[in-house]
Amino acid sequence: MTWRVPLFRIYWDQKDLEAVSAVLTRGTYWAEGPEIAGFEEALRAYCGRTRCTVFNSGTSGLHAALLAYGIGPGDEVIVPSFTFIATANAPRFVGAVPVFADIETLSLGLDPADVAERITPSTKAIVPVHYGGMPCRIRALRELADDHGILLLEDAAEAFGATVGSGMIGTFGHAGMYSFCQNKIITTGEGGAIVSDDPDLHRRLELLRSHGRESGLPYFSSTSGADYTALGYNFRLPTMGAALGIAQLAKAEWIITRRRELAAAYEKAFRGIREIALLPEPAGERAVYQLYSVRCSNRDALQSYLAERGIMTKVYFPPVHQTAFYRGSGEARALPRTEEVASDILTLPLFPSMTAGEQELVADTVAEFYQTTE
Ligand SMILES: Cc1ncc(COP(=O)(O)O)c(C=O)c1O
Repeated sequence: MTWRVPLFRIYWDQKDLEAVSAVLTRGTYWAEGPEIAGFEEALRAYCGRTRCTVFNSGTSGLHAALLAYGIGPGDEVIVPSFTFIATANAPRFVGAVPVFADIETLSLGLDPADVAERITPSTKAIVPVHYGGMPCRIRALRELADDHGILLLEDAAEAFGATVGSGMIGTFGHAGMYSFCQNKIITTGEGGAIVSDDPDLHRRLELLRSHGRESGLPYFSSTSGADYTALGYNFRLPTMGAALGIAQLAKAEWIITRRRELAAAYEKAFRGIREIALLPEPAGERAVYQLYSVRCSNRDALQSYLAERGIMTKVYFPPVHQTAFYRGSGEARALPRTEEVASDILTLPLFPSMTAGEQELVADTVAEFYQTTE
């Protein structure tokens, strides 16, 4: 179906084309090219961490990070259920148990008090999510993790460029993951990164990323054989993706400013509609609105009404513990706030190239729905 207003549109420009073309026409180093290190360097500079390893997805990054930290069978990892399923799957990949904790209803991120109740002697890590680019209670979660001597691994897939005070989201934990999938703040099509200040972690991540191969020499252009010192995967980002990432990163602040302007315009338009509850941005924080979500009455009917008029929306997220894969797995416990929020949340279209006309159409159609149905 062609939507009059899609949920998102990828933002790209001539510089992206040139960056990818330069790698293609070079005809070499489409894998493990110099742009990989260049993208990592640019990401480190942007987020203010000393180490960065890029991956072919955020999911691979989470998987590798849990392996690198030695998390495995018998361990528990606390995650939200109000997230994309990859957050919960990552502990499963390494044989650990994802333990779902509830969210609080301001940021829609993990509730530190509920997390505290679910910590056991087997808990090795907390993986909080910054929902749709809204910072969660990351400082309180870091304190909690430190008090219990456990790892805090931020799933900042949706929150690239978000801040709390002067700190970038993704840098409050021991390590942070970003996703560069096509609907994220900046994109390489598919891609991800782990950032931290821990050189040993990144040495392990590099081994895990590429077959456990000791990477002293460039593999594809070297005649000498390499040695393999660990069980590794192929989680490598293609060089074209890294080149695209460098070009996208140069636009990140512009993209974020644009997203914030659009969010402010929605806020103004919806202020008078009592059936809609907005997600406020706390003072001193910068949300990046990877998703623009509202809580609303009569959600399913509103979604159908918008779809009939060519406006795409989506429910982010149906709770992970209610998916067929996790239902009845024994990992699901009462998560009343997760279930309540998931029952009335709706993500509306928001993307940097959205026109005033497109946004007005969405806002007017939402207003019209409540005028005619309530
Ligand atoms: C919260 C969250 N975690 C993890 C992921 C997985 O990232 P990727 O799609 O890059 O594997 C996503 C993105 O889809 C996400 O939104």
